[in-house]
Amino acid sequence: GYLAGLQQSGSGAADTAAANAPTLTVLYGSETGNSEEVARQLGERATAQGFAVQIADMAEYKHNRLRQEKHLLAIVSTHGEGDPPEPAQEFFEFLSSKKAPRLDGLQFSVLALGDASYEHYCQAGKDLDSRLEALGGQRLQPRVDCDVDYDDPAENWINGALETLGEVSGEPAPAATEAAGTPSVLYTRKNPYPAAVLENIVLSGRGSAKEVRHVELSLADSGLKWEPGDALGIVPVNDPELVDALLAALAFDAETPVTSPRDEQVPLRQALLNDCELTTLTRPLIEQHAELAATDELKTLLGDDQREALKQYMYGHQLIDLVRDYPPAKASAQDFVSILRRLPPRLYSIASSWRANPDEVHLTVDTVRFEVNGEYRHGVTSTLLADRLAEDDTVSVYIDHNKNFKLPTDPDTPIIMIGPGTGVAPFRAFLQEREEAGASGRNWLFFGDQHFRCDFLYQTEWLRWRRAGLLNRIDVAFSRDQADKIYVQHRLREQARDVYDWIEAGAHVYVCGDAERMAPDVHQALVDIISEQGGLESTQAEGYLKQLQKNRRYQRDVY
Ligand code: 2AM
Repeated sequence: GYLAGLQQSGSGAADTAAANAPTLTVLYGSETGNSEEVARQLGERATAQGFAVQIADMAEYKHNRLRQEKHLLAIVSTHGEGDPPEPAQEFFEFLSSKKAPRLDGLQFSVLALGDASYEHYCQAGKDLDSRLEALGGQRLQPRVDCDVDYDDPAENWINGALETLGEVSGEPAPAATEAAGTPSVLYTRKNPYPAAVLENIVLSGRGSAKEVRHVELSLADSGLKWEPGDALGIVPVNDPELVDALLAALAFDAETPVTSPRDEQVPLRQALLNDCELTTLTRPLIEQHAELAATDELKTLLGDDQREALKQYMYGHQLIDLVRDYPPAKASAQDFVSILRRLPPRLYSIASSWRANPDEVHLTVDTVRFEVNGEYRHGVTSTLLADRLAEDDTVSVYIDHNKNFKLPTDPDTPIIMIGPGTGVAPFRAFLQEREEAGASGRNWLFFGDQHFRCDFLYQTEWLRWRRAGLLNRIDVAFSRDQADKIYVQHRLREQARDVYDWIEAGAHVYVCGDAERMAPDVHQALVDIISEQGGLESTQAEGYLKQLQKNRRYQRDVY
C-alpha cells in the first residue's frame, strides 16, 4: 500500500539517514485523484526536506499502523451527502468504531477538499479532523478546507505543516530545494498545454434534442500521456458576449483595474474573461452578493425557511441573472470581483487511447445550452469547444489521472461497460486500448440514449469492433423510441443470467455517466441481478457488490 518511502535504501549511509530522519505519514482518501495528487506533492516536498515519508491510500492502509504513527498529515475529499470517497469509507468506519485506538502520541493535520456549492462542504475532512482529536491526537496546525480551486490553499497547508513539523521534530526545516532526480513534468494543472483543435464534429443527428460533439485536440510534442479512464482538464475562458452583458448590467468601466481571484492586477474585463467563475451559482456567492445588493430581498431568499426557493433559483440561473435581479448597487468593481471565485478547470473523460493515438486526445462533449426567461444561457467549456474555437485556435489542457477507473491489468479479464449518453466516452478509449494491445478479454457494452436514429454515439465504430470480434456484445436502450422508457438497467436486467455469469467469470464492471439517477438505478439493477441469479438476500447481494468494489472490479466514473 505504500507508494513512496525509502525504498531506495541499500547503502549504509542511506539507512543511517533514514533511521535519523523524522518520520511522516501522508494519508489520502481520493475518489477522482485530487487528494492523491496533493499527497504526492507533499510527499516530494517532505522527502526533499529530509523527512522519512510514507504515502498511503486510506483504501489500503493497515488500520493497526495508526497507533504507531507520530506525525500524520491527512488529505481527504468529500462526496455525496458529506461522505468520504468510496475507497476511504472503510477507514472512516474503522475510525468511528470502538476498534479505533487511542492516539495520544499523535500529531496531525487535515486538509479537506470539497466544493462550496454543496451543502455538506468538506464534511469528510471535518469529521476526520474532529475524530482524530477525539481519539487523543494533537493538531500540528488547524484544518484547511478547500473549494474546487484548491491549489493555493493546499500549498499553504503543505508549507505550514512542513514548517511546524520541522519545529516539533527538532529538525529545522531546510529551505525547500529542488528534489534531485525528480522528473520534470512539463505540463500540469498549473502549467497547462495549449492544444490546437483538430476536429470538432456534431455526433448527434438531425432531430436530436442534444448537441453532442466529438472534439479532437492536438497534443503533439506535449509529452502528455494518459491511461484509459483518465480525464482531460480544460482551463476555460468565459464567453466575451456574456462578459460584456455583465459589464453592461453592472455599469462598471471595463478597464477598471482590479485584483483578480488569481491575485493579479488586471483590467476588470480581463478578470471576468479569464479568472472568474461566471456560470455556477453557489450559496456562499449569493450570501456575499446579498451584502452588495441594493435591497434586502435577496437576504429573505437566504432565510432558513426558503431553502427550496433558493434551490429553485440557483437551478438554471447564472451570475448574470443574479446581477440583473439584484443589482449590486453598493459595490465597487473590486467589491464585486472579490465575491467571485476563481474559474476552475473542467474535466472531461478522455474518449481515446494514448497508445492508439499518442499525438491527439478525443473528447465527447455534451454542449450545454438552455433558456431562462427567453434568454439564451450556456455552459462555459462545452460552448468554448463548440462555438468559440476556430480551427488552429488553442485551448489550455492537462491530464487529470483517475486511478479509480482503470482497465484490468490482466488483458484476459472480461469487462462489462455501462455508459449511456456521453458516459460512453471512456469506453471508446477502453476498446481502442484493448484493440491496440491485442487484449483477449471479452468486452460487453451497454449504451443508452434517447433515439436510435440520431443519438447512437459512435455507432459505426461499435459496429466495426463488433464485426472484428473485439466487442463481443452490445446492448442498446433507446429511451424515447417507444411509449415506455427503456434504460440501460432494463437491458441489464433482461440479460441477468449472462451478466451474472460474466461477473462470476471475473468480469470487471464499469459505469460512467449521470450520477444522480442513472448510477443508483444501475447499482440497484446489479444488486437485484446478483441476488436473483446468485440466490442471495439483497443485503448479501449488496455485500457481494461491495466486495467487487473493494477488489476494484466495480468502478464508477459518475458526475
Ligand atoms: P431520457 O432522457 O429519455 O429519460 C442518456 O442521456 C440516456 O439516459 C437517455 O436515453 C436518458 O433517457 C437516459 N436516462 C435518463 N434517466 C435515466 C436513469 N435513471 N437510468 C438510466 N438511464 C437514464
